[in-house]
Amino acid sequence: MAGTGSKAALDVVIMAAGKGTRMKSARPKVLHRLGGRALLAHVLDRAMQLSARRAIVITGHGAAEVEAAVQALPLHGLQLAFARQEPQLGTGHAVQQALPQLPDDGVALILSGDVPLTETDTLQALLAACDGSRLALLTLDMPDPTGYGRIVRQGEKVEAIVEHKDASDDQRRITEIYSGIMAVPTRLLRGWLARLDNQNAQQEYYLTDVVKFAVADGVPVVAHRITDAAQVAGVNSPAQLAELERAYQLRRAQALMAQGVRLADPTRFDVRGELSCGADVEIDVGCVFEGRVELGEGVRIGAHCVIANARIAAGAVVHPFTHIDGEKLGVEVGEGALIGPFARLRPGAQLGAEVHIGNFVEVKNSTLAAGAKANHLAYLGDATVGERVNYGAGSITANYDGANKHRTVIEADVHVGSNCVLVAPVTLGAGGTIGGGSTITKNTPPGALTVARGKQLSLPNWQRPAKKK
Ligand code: UD1
Ligand code: MG
Repeated sequence: MAGTGSKAALDVVIMAAGKGTRMKSARPKVLHRLGGRALLAHVLDRAMQLSARRAIVITGHGAAEVEAAVQALPLHGLQLAFARQEPQLGTGHAVQQALPQLPDDGVALILSGDVPLTETDTLQALLAACDGSRLALLTLDMPDPTGYGRIVRQGEKVEAIVEHKDASDDQRRITEIYSGIMAVPTRLLRGWLARLDNQNAQQEYYLTDVVKFAVADGVPVVAHRITDAAQVAGVNSPAQLAELERAYQLRRAQALMAQGVRLADPTRFDVRGELSCGADVEIDVGCVFEGRVELGEGVRIGAHCVIANARIAAGAVVHPFTHIDGEKLGVEVGEGALIGPFARLRPGAQLGAEVHIGNFVEVKNSTLAAGAKANHLAYLGDATVGERVNYGAGSITANYDGANKHRTVIEADVHVGSNCVLVAPVTLGAGGTIGGGSTITKNTPPGALTVARGKQLSLPNWQRPAKKK
């Protein structure tokens, strides 16, 4: 039966007023992070993916903080509204607060801000079951349904949802539970919510009581029954948050492996943002990817690297324990570059092809042209480094005079010895050599050897002072 209302606009209602007592945290529960983003941001993603007309977030505990956090999210044109629920008198009472902002011609999809892993396909199927005219419930069988609302059926027909605390012993044996997610024509919902009371074990206004009103009014109630518990799992405690984090990360790992990415261990892998990979990428254990990271074809990432906001071109190898964080400026690593182990690339590091950055080398806001190398214990900040430059161990750019940053230019083929201090602003001319231990304060000519340090002196037959008797 194809309902005429199947094209009804979708309005998403997200309940996010609860306190989250068991999190034992000052932060509102729905702002705790999963995969690096607020739980509520994941739920809003669903509204966007379903092309909802609007999303209404019901806030209560920490309302101002939650509203500010949501307003800072990219919403891709989704219309957003808030409704405050103070005090919190139950899920039915929560949805009542949203009614003034819900147009009667729509279908309301009720979600919870603390249930982050519901898949868009699942919600689409639920909306299809609602079809603009029915009450559709997302349900699931649970081996231990303790605490949940039970789906009470008469034959196949759904009769009611009975909350655990109100259920008889017989009803408590029912394993089919209500997930907390429903789709319902708004016009019907409005009428049913007006009839709610709080005559129950918890003295709350239960959203779930709409089922008995639908049955009484002869409106069909349909259950869309799924088997994947993670999709409806809520976060109530740090332990549950960690459990869902692992479930989320495993899904991301599996999706990448399906594309051909070789993960040494999908259970020791974390993406907190967007990771895109070319063919034949290999990622060892214990790596964390944040923000937007792109790995080109054949890139290899060693164990225990943290990489944020960076583009790593084809064939580059990042050895273990490297930290790359491009923040807003980004980091670029060129084709075939070798980075680490123990390297640190900071915002604005732009490395050309075949660049080598070795252990304990820090690069910030610097461009290194193809083939440049800084292999040990060095700092390059605000520098422009030419092709094939070799930058010796222990050398640094003194780029900061205490007030301003200055640039160091190292032209192509310069060889900088060990333990040099390049006092910016300064330019080292192409092909020059800088003797180890030099403190360079003036520009150096191309092709020359420049040494700026105390001359070595030897006094023959030197008698050491002797102790006085
Ligand atoms: C609810 C359902 C139950 C279902 C379970 C699934 C009701 C009466 N019961 O139970 O059938 O099996 O979800 O997890 O709906 N919230 C508010 N304002 C309130 C109360 C709750 O915004 O006054 C929010 C919470 O922050 C949470 C969501 O609504 O995001 C669900 O509330 P929760 O207390 O977890 O639901 P239960 O009563 O456990
Ligand atoms: Mg409750």
